[in-house]
Amino acid sequence: MLTQETLARFDREIAKYPAEQKQSAVMACLTLAQIEKGWLAKETIAFVADYLDIPAIAAEEVATFYNMYNLKPVGKYKLAVCTCIPCALSGGRDAAAYLAERLGISIGETTADGRFTLVESECQGACGDAPVALVNNHKMRSFLTPDKLDQLLEELK
Ligand code: FES
Repeated sequence: MLTQETLARFDREIAKYPAEQKQSAVMACLTLAQIEKGWLAKETIAFVADYLDIPAIAAEEVATFYNMYNLKPVGKYKLAVCTCIPCALSGGRDAAAYLAERLGISIGETTADGRFTLVESECQGACGDAPVALVNNHKMRSFLTPDKLDQLLEELK
């Protein structure tokens, strides 16, 4: 299901907690599984749960709560635009709409070439830099304007 390398990384995460608390590594293990697979199929989530000796539903609850987890395949670049109120008041929804138009897709979709997936996200904890977006859950772009979004798409081409 997962490579030995990923399982070794699971073990390193699990070792950070007391033996009877290994379920605390669930977020880290889901993240590692996603890094290997690109997204979290139901079977992958169940595998992680099994590895941590927790019910599959417990891992599913975590995977479906946080939008950094991909519950379906995504493009090479997942662009998550924050559309929560502080960002929305600063143009977050406009930024998402602009990207949708530029990419020719709707929010939640992936471009036909598999390059970009566009999603909305909950607050990313950077409201002061609104509007913001995350690229592949890690790299944040701030104060998004159409020019900056054009630049971002150009960089990721
Ligand atoms: Fe967008 Fe907080 S509302 S980062």
